[in-house]
Formats: sequence, structure tokens, C-alpha cells
Amino acid sequence: MRFNPNVLDCAAAPIAEAWSWVDNRDSDGLIDMCQAVPAHLPPQSLRDYLGEAIRAGQGATYTDIRGIEPLRAALAANISERYRGAASAEDILITAGCNQAFCSVIDTLCEAGDEVILPLPCYFNHQMWLTARGVIPRYLSFNAQTAIPDPDEARGLIGPRTRAILLVTPNNPSGAIYPPEVIAAFYAVAREHGIALILDETYRDFIAIDDLPHGLFGEPDWRETLVHLYSFSKVFSLTGFRTGAVAAGQPLLEQLQKIQDCTAICAPHAGQLAALYGLENLHDWKVEKADELAQRALAIQSAFAHPDLQYRLISAGAYFAYVEHPFDIPARDVVRRLIEEQELVSLPGSYFGPEQERFVRLAFANVHERRFDDVVTRLLATQ
Ligand SMILES: Cc1ncc(COP(=O)(O)O)c(C=O)c1O
Repeated sequence: MRFNPNVLDCAAAPIAEAWSWVDNRDSDGLIDMCQAVPAHLPPQSLRDYLGEAIRAGQGATYTDIRGIEPLRAALAANISERYRGAASAEDILITAGCNQAFCSVIDTLCEAGDEVILPLPCYFNHQMWLTARGVIPRYLSFNAQTAIPDPDEARGLIGPRTRAILLVTPNNPSGAIYPPEVIAAFYAVAREHGIALILDETYRDFIAIDDLPHGLFGEPDWRETLVHLYSFSKVFSLTGFRTGAVAAGQPLLEQLQKIQDCTAICAPHAGQLAALYGLENLHDWKVEKADELAQRALAIQSAFAHPDLQYRLISAGAYFAYVEHPFDIPARDVVRRLIEEQELVSLPGSYFGPEQERFVRLAFANVHERRFDDVVTRLLATQ
């Protein structure tokens, strides 16, 4: 049997590889800062609702390819309010998670040999899918002081085969939250060149509720440029229910619908019910959890202010902290050493694109801030 060389070229799933370096996953001393998973189950009220709905026979059938109408309408209303803009149910297609949304958008926009511009460091599944599809990533350099990419650099990379600029904000892996004016500048570049601006906003609910993530949904012609990707995984702790969404214009959704029909047919129905319950009932719960995480980002910043620490915190936000390590060795060796000597599990920067050997990612969403001093003590012990 022969395999697609593009798939053979893909890196192996990183989380599994990092865990293969851990001898005892059940050790009490282990601090797991490896994967971006919510620390808690969805609230009891959601679980009760879903249990009853499924007992009553709901959720077992296919839905429309684009998803159930009430969820599409509720997400559109949520987007309109959160971004002080305008979206309607017609702009929304519900997917089996944000990863599937991304894969389908890329398949809709790109053929092999086309190019997508994206900043370093980048989310490993994005990089893997581009590689699997033969789409060429053109990277924006990493600014290790601000972790914010430069829209002018993107302008210089655009060529005849560029199909999209791809941003993740709040960012995985850096935790950086891109300022609205930077996102607006990327949008202007994409609009000028008639290409898509894909914004993966999986972590947008962890931006302070009074802050505007960006103003693009307020642009009258946003549908010609913006492709917004969303996830219900983190906001309502629904990672296993596989529910996400795309918000975009009709020309894109009409084509994307063909891909959706062939791959998932529809997003999991039970996940759609859960997401709808969340949007309709869990606003306060969501804000409370976002506040907890914002506290955690502040706590990791103050823990890293330790005067003797040679690991430098570059940025922290949403679920992640991105850290520069002090050694002249590959990031994988640093991470393996942290696991073997200190039982601290993180991910090497090298999983997040080229030129990331100096960095490690700490995912702090499921580690309480009272353990951050211990994290710093363990890092100090390796210096
Ligand atoms: C940037 C980003 N996009 C997408 C996803 C996947 O989201 P979903 O569970 O909705 O597929 C993740 C999960 O870690 C992520 O970090």
C-alpha cells in the first residue's frame, strides 16, 4: 500500500508524542501543562438538559448540512452583540469543531500549490492540514518581544497563489491577544488583494467581556473578506461534543457546504443542542470562567517575575503562556528534561513551526494558579 506523500510529510500528533516521554501519568507530582483542555465539566444544568433531550429522542438524527436553525440564529445574535456588528443565521455554518471548520475552509479556498500566510508560531493542526493538502505556508516572523505579527510583512508575501491570511487570536500557542487595530490592518491587506482573512477565534470568550475583540463584523462588506472560525469546545467545556462554526459570506458557504456534506454531513446533533443550550443559558457561567482564566494569566505573569528565573515569559493569555528557555539545546530536549527531572509537562516550541527552538508552551487552563510558584521552582531547578 502506498501513502499520500503529503500526509507522510505531516508531523505526528504532538500531544501524543509529548505524553510518550512521561513514565507515570498518574504520578501525584506531575504538573500537566501540555494540552489546552478546560479544567471542568460543563455545568450540571447543561448535562441535565442534554440527558433529558436525548432520553426524549432528540439528537439522534442528521440535521441540515448547515446545522440547526436556532443554533445558527443564536450564534449570529451572539456574534452581533459581542463584536458590535451584524451577522445573521444565513452567515453561519455549524461544523464538527473548529478544526473541521478550518480544514473545510482551506479545502474550499485552496488547491495544492496555493499559499496561505500565517504568523509564527502557529497552531500545529493548521500546519499539519496545510501540509496534508499540499498548500504552502508562508510564515510571518515571530516578534519575541510583543508576539504580535506585522501586517506590512504580510503585504510583502502576497503573490499570485496566495489565497488567505490566517490569524489565531487569542493565539495558540503564544496566548497573545492581537489588538483590534492590528486585526483591522490585516483585514485591509486581505481586502486590498481580494483574498480571505481567516480568523480562528476559538479562545475569543476569554477576552475580557468589556473589550471588543475586533470591529470587523461592523464593516458593511465583511462577508467579502472575513472568514471567522469558532469553537464551542472551550467556552462551554464541550470538547468531546465536537461543535464549532464558520461565519462567512454566501459564496464561500455555498461551496463549503459541499465539503461538509461529504465529510461530516452535519455537525453532531447532540453537540448542536448542547451549544444552543450554552448560548441561551450560560452567559454568566461563561463570564465567570473567563474571569478565572484572566486571573490565571496575571498570576503566571507575576510568578515569572521571579528575579532568578532565566526562563522569560513572552506572552500569556486565554489558555497559554509562551516562554523563552535559557539553553542552547533544541526545545524538545528542554521539554524532555523538564518531564524527566521535574515532572513538568509542556510542549516544545518546535511543534509550532520553524525557528521556535528557543521556546516552550505552557497550557495553564487546567492548572490552578496556586501551583504556579511550584512551576517556577521546578524551572529554577533546571537552570
Ligand atoms: C487555535 C485552535 N483552533 C481550533 C482548535 C480545535 O477546536 P475544536 O475542538 O472546536 O475542534 C483548538 C484546540 O486546541 C485551537 O487551539
